[in-house]
Amino acid sequence: MALIRQSSIQAVRDACDMLEIVAPYTTLKKTGANYMGRCPFHGEKTASFSVDPVEKVYYCFGCGEGGNVFTFVEKKEGLDFADAVRMLADKYVVRLEFEQSSPGQEERLRRRERTLSLLDQAATYYSRYLRESKSAAAARDYLKRRGFQPEVVERFRLGFSPAGGQSLTQAAAGKGYSPAELLGAGLSSSRNGRAYDRFRGRLMFPFTDHRGRVLGFGARVLDDSKPKYLNSPETDLYHKSSLVFGLGNARQAITRADCVYIVEGYTDVLALSQANIENAVASMGTALTEQQLREISRFTKNVYLAFDADAAGQKAMLRALKLARALALSVRVVQMPAGRDPADLMMMDDGPAAFGKLVAGAPSLLQYQVQAELSGADLDSAEGRSRALDLLKEIIPEAAGSLERDEQLRVIADRLRLSPENVAYLMESTNFARSGSGEEARRRVLSHEEIIERDFLSQCLAHPGEARRYLRDMTDAYFTTAPTRSAFHWVRERLGGQTGSVPATPVSDLDGAGSVLPELLIRSNAGDGSSAGALHELYFRLSEAEISRRINALKKNLTDDDDDSENFRELCRLEAHRREIIELIQAGAYET
Ligand code: CTP
Ligand code: MN
Repeated sequence: MALIRQSSIQAVRDACDMLEIVAPYTTLKKTGANYMGRCPFHGEKTASFSVDPVEKVYYCFGCGEGGNVFTFVEKKEGLDFADAVRMLADKYVVRLEFEQSSPGQEERLRRRERTLSLLDQAATYYSRYLRESKSAAAARDYLKRRGFQPEVVERFRLGFSPAGGQSLTQAAAGKGYSPAELLGAGLSSSRNGRAYDRFRGRLMFPFTDHRGRVLGFGARVLDDSKPKYLNSPETDLYHKSSLVFGLGNARQAITRADCVYIVEGYTDVLALSQANIENAVASMGTALTEQQLREISRFTKNVYLAFDADAAGQKAMLRALKLARALALSVRVVQMPAGRDPADLMMMDDGPAAFGKLVAGAPSLLQYQVQAELSGADLDSAEGRSRALDLLKEIIPEAAGSLERDEQLRVIADRLRLSPENVAYLMESTNFARSGSGEEARRRVLSHEEIIERDFLSQCLAHPGEARRYLRDMTDAYFTTAPTRSAFHWVRERLGGQTGSVPATPVSDLDGAGSVLPELLIRSNAGDGSSAGALHELYFRLSEAEISRRINALKKNLTDDDDDSENFRELCRLEAHRREIIELIQAGAYET
């Protein structure tokens, strides 16, 4: 588990054939220095997806996905960064070297490996006990009664924990594990200084990470006693808020289908899997967290929520909306029949077909929310309608994709017996027009300043000769965000002589320049025919923005009796300089 050397990562990158790697996912045609095709990250009819085979980066002008050869493999194969590097190293026959780690790190890694091995052996122990022990007959009957076949029980490594209280603890001690290790793995609890099995007489559901390694357990009683489930405590390996049940098994099915079903319960995942619906995972209860959604969003952006049809499930779906928007996920709601969860549904004869129908008719989360708010409102009184409007106000304006928003405004107008224009007006959501392309929509979330910074840097790459003299004198102060600042350093270094190459940034590193560079590189040789004039204008706009920021900062510090001070004179100088630049921009005279 040691770190892969940066030099090895570069060697893999150099050996890769970007076009060959992208080929299975879309057909590319050469256009200028780039290759273009339909985007493999979003559905589209025209080709907005662009690949630069030399730099080995890609960028989609439609949806804004961009990255390097590693991020492409991460996303398409559902791997993490290290695994993507390993996979490509295998494919292109590059030998990887690893960092030497410190003795402290070595020790931590060794302990971690031991705990992982202990948890894996515990899963094997429980599953063998379930299969073979006389005392597990009731558990086997229980699974049978609920319709779970041996294959699915095997696939998810279900088990049963002996009722005795010390069986597992003693078996592990026999293999050389200390009480502290058992406590640390969450398998034992201590009472009066002695270690006991934490799980006793329960059906065991191993929790695995996306690679299938066991990190903890969920444990269900066979009868109606409480608590129904007892889960592992938080440990070094198991964190409830980030674990997604079933992701290890479902990962490939999720990337293949490019969508995921998120359900509440372990048994729901099992039941769906048994019906050959393998792309399902569980949030472990209703509180779907941001970390869980992040983890899932590495494999697909298309999410179906299939939570139980009860109050808690409904609330959870509404909460999921905000999170999903922040991650730019497309979310639909599978509306389960009252009182049934997916496991219940699957156990019925026509269950899988019924589930398919529900999926096909699944409303978007926005539609679902509007429906939920409207159905809970008293639409017969003016007061009720106005209250409903207030609630809807919070949902509608933020909604991405104004096509969908317009449609929902019409639904609301219809139910509240108002004109759509009035609803829009009442919601202070004046933008009734179509939003234009995805590119525009995406760029709209960037500040005006950052758009100029990005455009400037990509023009620098397109016109290196002219760019050099600007870049030489520029400082970090010209750039307002961490990604554009590091991109600036990268561009300057590259044009400064040393041939740079795009750093191999993992997907998760969203703050570094890695998130901006693919876009810049692709734009720079997209050949939009722009002359060096565009570069000059952008430079002046950038300078103007930078001076404005300095002026604002100075103004903040200026006091009334300051009119004669050095600060004041500086302010006047800056204002004058700023006016000059603005005049230059307006006159279109960019030669300096
Ligand atoms: N849960 C939990 N602790 C509890 C109750 C529930 O962690 N005391 C989580 C579990 O992840 C469970 C999920 O919430 O799978 C959904 O709970 P519930 O619907 O009550 O259970 P099911 O998974 O549907 O289990 P079953 O089908 O066996 O009733
Ligand atoms: Mn349930």
